[in-house]
Amino acid sequence: MFFSLRALFQRALALVVLANVVHCQTQTVAQTGTYDPSPFNFIGTIDAMTLNNTVDPLAGGTITVNGFLITVPKNLLVTLPSITCAWSEMFDATGAPQLPLLGQVSWEATIWGNEVHGELIAGLVFIVQESVQFLQGFITAIDYTTGHFMVENTEVVLNDPLGRFGPVYTDNPLWTVDPDNPSVTAATGYPVCIPRNTTDPECPLTNRPKDSDGLYLTAFTMPDPALVTAGGLDPRIMVPLVVGDYVTYSGTKVPGDLLAIYFLQANLGIYTAPGTKPAYITCAAAQYAIVVPDPTVEVDETRSCSFAAFVLLQP
Ligand SMILES: *[C@@H]1O[C@H](CO)[C@@H](O)[C@H](O)[C@H]1NC(C)=O
Ligand SMILES: *[C@@H]1O[C@H](CO)[C@@H](O)[C@H](O)[C@H]1NC(C)=O
Repeated sequence: MFFSLRALFQRALALVVLANVVHCQTQTVAQTGTYDPSPFNFIGTIDAMTLNNTVDPLAGGTITVNGFLITVPKNLLVTLPSITCAWSEMFDATGAPQLPLLGQVSWEATIWGNEVHGELIAGLVFIVQESVQFLQGFITAIDYTTGHFMVENTEVVLNDPLGRFGPVYTDNPLWTVDPDNPSVTAATGYPVCIPRNTTDPECPLTNRPKDSDGLYLTAFTMPDPALVTAGGLDPRIMVPLVVGDYVTYSGTKVPGDLLAIYFLQANLGIYTAPGTKPAYITCAAAQYAIVVPDPTVEVDETRSCSFAAFVLLQP
């Protein structure tokens, strides 16, 4: 079943109109508690978070959003930009929330839940720092040892605890890149990386061809993997980012004036050979729906808009 925001809004509006009519006729409708339980959907700034019990990994607690205190029931999982975790994993060993720079930057929660006897109880919780943050610029320097790189005047690092896309960074593992469904890619979906040194076998500079002037190409097609030669281009290995690449990225501001990136897309057109594997796919948008055989509910379809990094065979 899929309820659009519009449908929910119309239902809410109908209730508001109804409430006003009743109010006009009787003048005695209570201000709160006209129906119980009542659903709520908050998108707001996190003021505070508590953990009920530091020993139980599935313990709940509370989250305060724009001054509203919300109960987090035990067993609830929280969705972060790249991973899902238990509520207890949001806290360090002392019970302090692991939200870097809380109070200095906007940490935001999106929460769906129910108000039951006046108590707000969370059902779905999404947490991210600055949810609409979206930045762009040219890479101006890369430090292969630390993995830190400059996007014009900003110092950034891939938040990569496993070192999937370059040097390991373990300081803030909750706000990680996605190491399995790559969140560090070319615009065509091909995974890209920060070299660990000039001859890193997992991110070799030789996997980024140059033009006749010695400049790194920003659009090229990989060879058929069956025809790969030693030291040549290899579509099974990531392609290194280099100084001059234009990147779009989102991350978490952490102490030290550093942005720990969980999503990066480079303005590169990297393709794989026609009719060969691997073929990388990136999804721009997806909508999921469950069809129910009830003609009175809105019927939606599952659709996605995706891009595949392979050159289609000519018909
Ligand atoms: C917090 O812990 C107490 C005592 O262990 C328990 O009664 C209560 O239900 C817990 N609350 C949540 C939200 O888990
Ligand atoms: C470069 O980095 C890779 C991956 O960490 C490592 O295996 C290799 O030994 C390094 N090479 C040099 C020359 O340091």
